[in-house]
Order: sequence, then structure tokens, then C-alpha cells
Amino acid sequence: MLPSRPAIRRLLVPASMPRPTGPPVAPDTPVNTPARLSLISRHLAPDYPINTPYTVERLPRTIDTSLLPSSQTRRMSSQPEHPTLLIPGPIEFDDAVLQSMSHYSESHVGPGFVVTFGETLSMLRKLFQTTDPTAQPFIISGSGTLGWDLVAANLVEAGEDVLVLSSGYFSDGFADCLRVYGANVTELKAAPGTKPQLPEIEKALSEKKYKAITVTHVDTSTGVLSELKNLSALVHKVSPDTLILVDGVCSVACEEIDFDGWKLDGVVTASQKAIGCPAGLSISMFSGRAMKAFQSRKTPPSSYFASMKNWTHIMQNYEAKKPSYFATPSPQLIHALHTALTQILSRPVAERFALHKAASDRIKKAISDLGLKQVASNPNEQAHGMTAIYLPETVTQADILPKLAKKGVVFAGGIHKEIGTKYIRFGHMGVSVLDPRRGDVEKALDALENGLTECGYQKA
Ligand SMILES: Cc1ncc(COP(=O)(O)O)c(C=O)c1O
Repeated sequence: MLPSRPAIRRLLVPASMPRPTGPPVAPDTPVNTPARLSLISRHLAPDYPINTPYTVERLPRTIDTSLLPSSQTRRMSSQPEHPTLLIPGPIEFDDAVLQSMSHYSESHVGPGFVVTFGETLSMLRKLFQTTDPTAQPFIISGSGTLGWDLVAANLVEAGEDVLVLSSGYFSDGFADCLRVYGANVTELKAAPGTKPQLPEIEKALSEKKYKAITVTHVDTSTGVLSELKNLSALVHKVSPDTLILVDGVCSVACEEIDFDGWKLDGVVTASQKAIGCPAGLSISMFSGRAMKAFQSRKTPPSSYFASMKNWTHIMQNYEAKKPSYFATPSPQLIHALHTALTQILSRPVAERFALHKAASDRIKKAISDLGLKQVASNPNEQAHGMTAIYLPETVTQADILPKLAKKGVVFAGGIHKEIGTKYIRFGHMGVSVLDPRRGDVEKALDALENGLTECGYQKA
């Protein structure tokens, strides 16, 4: 059951939470540059090495501190001044979500926390739009990648076949993770900015019996959106026993997901993207069918921490408001997630998806008006929580990202191994699009237009 209205109010602005102290900061107060250094992510330094297996490596160079924000940063809330983080996750956080993390220390098996955790699990069912009592939510300390391990260690056994639909860097990562656990992976790869199409998926499914098919709902490396409803209908028609497992790390809470209606078997996600909670939680939902597949394994799960055997009864106990322990959860992060989900569910989720779509349409139009192309070229395959933008030929990431940073906007560089240096990524999820008073989208679009002009770009 959801908390009552006064309880929700208390949750959104908890009276016991310490407020930020210190004198208020005027909107244009210059930032103390060295002290701000820690706030700056690698996205401000596009030529800083990021050491990922699929990324075009960049030459190391010292961070130029003159790039750090000055009067261009604004105070958006009770948070300290900071550049507006518009990468595709982590995203900007709402004050109440952040303040929830200042909760006093409490026992992870104490009655207060058990209720909070239980309610959080129940709220996840609403976010995923499932009323099926056999569906099982999991919230485990870890990042989005842990969701891949949950799938690979529990739902697939060594030697079993998995079809991975690859639409970019993150789909490839999911495939790698499955291989680590011994799955026999077939990847259907698409050119950068596209996704595998239904006819080729149908062909692949009819050639071999797959235990599972994985799809990355939004591949954050390209901004390509995969369609789930028709895909699931196809899999149910051609290969009804195949489990349909979705990487929803960059889609849950900004793209529609009808878990029951579309007959999905698993969606894994993380706290730091459209859900709008700090990083550190692996969040997932598995169908009754997936849980049965897990229970009928011939071999034990091939992970200890990521074992559903260890976690399922813990989640069930918490949801039934009974204390339980396998490994210590992070109460502060769970409080933040509870607040974020309470906020999300205070309005119909369809409204939230529609607002993300409207903001995305506006952003994509502005980008096209600037004469720029998107990595995801087909409008039906474009994500609504991020946009991957090809740079003009005369402009590099090293030119534009620092200019954006000077204007107080943080975008991310490209990470697709074939085209990584040619594009930048603009994340538009959560409060940045849902709270128009912040002006984040306008600020970003202005910064992009002016930054490109400073780089010498003129629309043809
Ligand atoms: C689609 C997708 N899957 C998986 C991940 C991995 O998540 P994390 O970095 O939280 O481990 C990411 C991260 O950005 C992602 O975008």
C-alpha cells in the first residue's frame, strides 16, 4: 500500500532532515575553482582516458582548470552551485531525494527501515506496471551492471543459447557478461545508430532454440530505442519458451514499459538514470515464468552475491515487512529511492512518459534546426530520455565539451567503438525535463548553439 498523503508530504520534505547550512549563495557568485574540481566528471575533459573496453581511447592530458564553471553556474535549489549535469545518467537530483539520504543511521533489520524497504519494493511493481503476484522485484546494492550478472548467473546455465540484440556498446557489454557465465551467445548486430529488425530476429529465432533473448531498450551509447511490445509478441509466437530479458537501465521511468501487458520476463535497471536517485542500486523485476526458470535450474546459480537463491526470500520478507538479512543494504539509498518512487507515482506514469516524449521532441527539433544529425537516424528508433548528436565535421568533442562546460552544462562524449569521437550525448531525464522552472533544457540548447558558433560552426 502507498503511504498516506501526510506521510507522503513528510517523505518529500522530511522534518528531521538537516537542511544545507551556510550562507545562501547568490545566483552569480563565482565558484571557488579548486574546491569545485571534485565535482567535475571526466565528461568535462573529453581527451581524458576513460578506459572502457569498447571506447576509442583518448590521449591523457591534465585537466584544464580554466574550464571549470564560473558565473555560468546557477543555484537551482538548496544544492550547492554546480554545473547542470545533462549526461545520460547520473542525472540531476531533486532536493527531497537527496535530503532523504541524510537519514540518521538505523538498523537495516529495524522496524522503520523494514517498512521503508517493503514499500519501496511494492512501489516498483507500480512503476513497472505489474499486478502479477508471481512477478518478483529485486533491489540490491550495486550499479546497473549487476542486473546483467543477475540475469547471467540465474536465468541461464553454462552452455545454453542466448540471442543478444545489439544496438551499441551496452548491448555488447550484456553479451560479454553472459559469456563470462558460460552462455553460448549469438549477437545480432546492427550498424551504429540502428537496431536489429523484426524479420532478422524472427529468422534467428526459427533457426535455433534460445533459452533467452536480451534487448537493450535504450542503448545509451547511441540513443537507439528498441521497441518491446512487437518484439515480445514475435518471440511469444516464434519461440514461446524463450525468456524476454530487457536492459532498461536508460529507459525505466522515462519510456513506457508495460511489464505484464507486453509479457516481459525481466527488466533490469539502475537508480541513477530516469528514476532520479543517486547511483548504487541495481533494480529489477522478473516474471513468474523467469522465477520458475530459475527454480528449475539443473546447476546452482553461478554467483554468490548475485544469486537469486540468496536474495529472493530476502525481498519477499522485506515486502511482507519482515526483517531479513543476506547482505547489508544501504538504508540511505533505499530512503532516497523511496522518495523518488513516491514522487514518480504521485502522478500517472503515462503522464511522465508523455512529458519525456514532449521534451525529447522539442530537443530533437532544436538540434535539427541547428543543422545537426542524430546518431539514431530513424525517428521511430530515437530514445526520449537522451539524444546522441553527430558533431559538424569541423568541430571535435575536445572543442565543444569544454565550451559547454564554461556555460555550466555537462554533456557526455560518444562511447560507441566505431563512431565514439564523432558525437556527443545529451541526457534529458527526470527533473531536468519535468520541472520547467529549472530551465535546464533551454540552458543546454542555448549553450550548444552558442558553443558551436564559438567553434566556428555555421548552419549550411
Ligand atoms: C543501457 C545501459 N546498460 C547498462 C549500464 C551499466 O550501468 P552501470 O554503469 O550503472 O553499471 C548502463 C550505464 O550507463 C547503460 O546505460
